[in-house]
Amino acid sequence: MTEKELIKLAVEARKKSYAPYSHFHVGACLETKTGKCFSGCNVENAAFTPTNCAERTAFFKAVSEGEKKFKRIAIVGGGEDGEMQFCSPCGVCRQVMMEFCEPESFQIIVAKSEAEYKVFTLAELMPEGFGPDNLN
Ligand code: THU
Repeated sequence: MTEKELIKLAVEARKKSYAPYSHFHVGACLETKTGKCFSGCNVENAAFTPTNCAERTAFFKAVSEGEKKFKRIAIVGGGEDGEMQFCSPCGVCRQVMMEFCEPESFQIIVAKSEAEYKVFTLAELMPEGFGPDNLN
């Protein structure tokens, strides 16, 4: 799977976004170390706080299918005009990534399109993060 292919799957996932309150639609595609892909979208709620981000949807789908080793995730987000923004993961999603990913090697691809994207490691977006190792 190439970076561009992963972004394409995130764009597809974004089409399923349920965002009637923010009108901000996000799609993500998470790749396991063995090359399997799990996509996700944001799922909002009238009570607001139960809202789940696209990234966490992808992680929870994967973990609930028995996957726990991840290589990278691609994220695309933007409003209903179809114009994509660089949509960097929220703090809660970064914390979920800390639970399952190696901060120095896990890659976060923040994309506007298959041609325009930035790549970060989790360590770059979550410096000095708290994770499972802290409890050992
Ligand atoms: N959202 C995501 O799904 N991922 C992000 O990285 C940022 C925000 C969602 C949550 C909410 O449904 C909407 O975007 C506006 O915050």
